[in-house]
Amino acid sequence: MKKVLIATIAAGAMALSLAACSSGGSSEGGEGGGALVGVAMPTKSSERWIQDGDAVKKQLEDEGFKVDLQYAEDDIPTQVSQIENMITKGAEALIIASIDGTTLTQVLQDAADADIPVIAYDRLIRDTENVSYYASFDNFKVGQQQATSVLNGLGLVDLEGNAIDGAPAGPFNIEMFAGSPDDNNATFFWDGAQDTLKPFIDAGTLVVKSGQTSFEQAATLRWDGETAQKRMENILTSSYSDGTKVNGILSPYDGISRGIISALTDAGYSAGEEWPIISGQDAELDSVKAINNSGEQYATIFKDTRKLATAAVEMTVAVLNDEKPEVNNTEDYDNGKFVVPSFLLDSQIVVKDNVNEVLVESGYWTAEEIG
Ligand code: BGC
Repeated sequence: MKKVLIATIAAGAMALSLAACSSGGSSEGGEGGGALVGVAMPTKSSERWIQDGDAVKKQLEDEGFKVDLQYAEDDIPTQVSQIENMITKGAEALIIASIDGTTLTQVLQDAADADIPVIAYDRLIRDTENVSYYASFDNFKVGQQQATSVLNGLGLVDLEGNAIDGAPAGPFNIEMFAGSPDDNNATFFWDGAQDTLKPFIDAGTLVVKSGQTSFEQAATLRWDGETAQKRMENILTSSYSDGTKVNGILSPYDGISRGIISALTDAGYSAGEEWPIISGQDAELDSVKAINNSGEQYATIFKDTRKLATAAVEMTVAVLNDEKPEVNNTEDYDNGKFVVPSFLLDSQIVVKDNVNEVLVESGYWTAEEIG
């Protein structure tokens, strides 16, 4: 009798602790209860998305979720079929950083039919009602910061964008690059940057020597560095073979900046006095090194992917509990069907002077990694 009783108590205790595991999963306990969340990321070819994927996965697992994390190598049909698979596998929520924000309408209808909420991650998903929330950065402001960093490198403004007394009159030759036209963020970055550059272009302090001033001319499909390199080579040949130099280049992403740097090096520019001021985005390691060591890139924009992951995970937990997550923007992100309620994080300009403070002290990169 006694033996049976002890065995029963032991089994009961085990069942209890198993139940605690499946409803918690982490030592801090969590809300996931072992539910599966599908996380679709665009590509591993850019470091930032690897950081994003890792951070989202870890934070979801800490909350007790199971995670299906997929990368689509920038191929749209691959991303669509990865999301289809997540639905088939029984995902209870989806977190999606789209490749092309307009191509998920059908698969998200399938998700809606299966009652699966969708969080748009960093990139707005367009042309569908089937997005619950959007977690991103203030993308217009990111564009303003990119332009401010170029102006700062040219000695025209401080890092807050305030005019500097005794700033040079110029004129400075600049060229401008935009991101992928199918990524909703690209127009926000571009519009923000133009907002900041316009007064300087209007005053004649900045001259776009190539004359290529429209978003369409500046756009870089899939944010591809080689595409940017070719465009920079063409601009150098067509507009700078007379010996004039380009002094500043607006670049919306570190991978594009690296393509631009290759074109400049191939054309005979070398780091030093006549090297142009080049912006960027994402604080990718190679670019941070180029800012900190060789000086080939002047600035980048730091967007803390760990905080973005937290925002997306909190949204996921809230929607699965039928609660309203925190949002701070209900005006700016109209996806063609409705204004998607958004939570937008802040970003920071990084230049050589604050690499340590912004990136090392926050634990994003170590001093050894940056070199
Ligand atoms: C992101 C940027 C990134 C770009 C290229 C954009 O949607 O917001 O951070 O540089 O995609 O990956």
